[in-house]
Amino acid sequence: MQINGSSILVTGASGGLGTAMCQELARRGARLVITARREALLADLAAETGAEVLVADLTDRDDLLRVAERAGACDVLVANAGVGNDPSLAELTDESIDFSIDVNLRAPIVLATHFARSHQQAGTEGQIVLIGSLAGLAATPGTRMYNATKFGLRGFALSFRQDLEGTGVGCSLVAPGFIRDAGMFAEGDLVLPPGVRTNTPADVAAGVVRAITANPMEVYVSPPEMRAVSTLATMAPAFSAFVQRKLNVSERTDR
Ligand SMILES: NC(=O)c1ccc[n+]([C@@H]2O[C@H](COP(=O)([O-])OP(=O)(O)OC[C@H]3O[C@@H](n4cnc5c(N)ncnc54)[C@H](OP(=O)(O)O)[C@@H]3O)[C@@H](O)[C@H]2O)c1
Repeated sequence: MQINGSSILVTGASGGLGTAMCQELARRGARLVITARREALLADLAAETGAEVLVADLTDRDDLLRVAERAGACDVLVANAGVGNDPSLAELTDESIDFSIDVNLRAPIVLATHFARSHQQAGTEGQIVLIGSLAGLAATPGTRMYNATKFGLRGFALSFRQDLEGTGVGCSLVAPGFIRDAGMFAEGDLVLPPGVRTNTPADVAAGVVRAITANPMEVYVSPPEMRAVSTLATMAPAFSAFVQRKLNVSERTDR
């Protein structure tokens, strides 16, 4: 799918990575629909990119349906909104579990399903881009809901892509590693072990561009060694946990 002239709906557009994606897509001639809860940030981005603004809370079923309907009329869906920051086990409530699942897993699945159906009914081509994470491959201490939802999103993406084969609708997963300068990792307090390399929001935007234009199954936005270690973790999770204990990889002490 070409970007120039295409309509592209981006969720989580007010965040660090969403903003970088929107700036790059607008620079390449996309007509953007941007959505999130923080209206003022969306308004600033709209002034810069000419985007249409759709204020919505993805945990609200009516809001989600409005976003799904608007996405169905676009050429491309970029389901980017996400929440990290798992509460400690002591603070974990049923509500916070629902919140993580609603934003990170339920919303992208609902949006992708509506998007695909609407394109199939119209007989038009489209592209779905789901923003996953290396946390969809490797589990780390203190990130149980983030891991659960990103593992789940990857499973959905890999299956849904096969269901869509031959329909004219593509589905790609873009999986960033640790991203510096902006976004949830840059704004969080996780300190990486020495030698762990990071990428930039512009790298993630380039990954999204590749997903839209080439429909690959997965795009990893991470140094090769991070992808290798994460892939190893899928095959040998006990070994991965052992290495992390040795390296003292722990996002929080009150888990
Ligand atoms: N940054 C990284 O290092 C990194 C690494 C791997 C994967 N990722 C993934 O990349 C994506 C973007 O992350 P980011 O770093 O840009 O995070 P961020 O700066 O925290 O932005 C998160 C975005 O999600 C939106 N969002 C959160 N809850 C929402 C809700 N209930 N309804 C609607 N929108 C909601 C936020 O908008 P409002 O608050 O305005 O609603 C914001 O635009 C996420 O899926 C994340 O998991 C990030």
